[in-house]
Amino acid sequence: MNKLLIALLVSVGITGVAHAAGDAAAGKSKTAICAACHGVDGNSAIGNFPKLAGQNERYLLKQMQEIKDGSRPVVEMTGMLTALSDQDMADISAYFASNTVQIGAAKADLVKAGEKIYRAGIESKGISACTACHGPNGAGLASAAFPQLGGQHAQYTEKQLKNFRNEERNNDPGKMMRDIAAKMSDKEIQAVSSYIQGLN
Ligand code: HEC
Ligand code: HEC
Repeated sequence: MNKLLIALLVSVGITGVAHAAGDAAAGKSKTAICAACHGVDGNSAIGNFPKLAGQNERYLLKQMQEIKDGSRPVVEMTGMLTALSDQDMADISAYFASNTVQIGAAKADLVKAGEKIYRAGIESKGISACTACHGPNGAGLASAAFPQLGGQHAQYTEKQLKNFRNEERNNDPGKMMRDIAAKMSDKEIQAVSSYIQGLN
């Protein structure tokens, strides 16, 4: 890891994310409306709706706060979080985090290229390995709110990388993802997203 990366990790770790302790049992009762798109346990069946199961609490809470306040616009969720308090969102985060993500499969013809990008980055373009922040198995780093990626729908992952690339999504601290996605081609994004769908 280079010095910049270590500095970023340390600063994220220290400033952290506002975090109330969540209660998974209380959270479950608040997710009826979410199930239509994200699945009852957070394993969505549809490629453009992200899986939330097994995702770390801090990351989930951060996203919900940002979707609620508009800094990460999600039109499909308009108004759905308005009535939820920070405690409600912490409880919901604890609930989805307590479930296990269902791993999908990578496309056979993309595995090699995708694995290479995930594990080694693309040196000639200055793209870091995804493992540095998202872990060798795609489990993320809960303490720093770095998301779990393993098992996520390729369609959703592809869209996020393209959104980071065109800065439509800009809620990544220190531009950590925008700087990476800016250098990736459509083909590279497709390969790594497919690989991630089968990663665990
Ligand atoms: C009508 C469908 C729909 C419903 C209902 C819905 N969501 Fe979402 N949600 C989405 C979509 C679509 C996205 C991803 C948008 C994008 O591409 O950035 C998303 C993204 C998210 C994310 C970010 C996931 C990530 O990996 O970054 C969280 C967290 C989330 N939703 C939580 C909830 C919760 C909690 C509820 C219920 C209170 C809910 N959603 C209800 C469609 C929905
Ligand atoms: C320096 C650390 C770092 C590296 C390296 C990194 N990421 Fe990320 N990534 C992050 C952080 C932090 C976030 C969460 C941003 C936020 O808070 O919204 C993220 C978010 C994502 C998301 C969105 C997840 C979701 O559920 O919406 C995807 C997809 C992603 N990264 C893919 C990758 C891929 C592919 C690579 C390798 C090419 C990579 N990342 C390398 C730090 C990193």
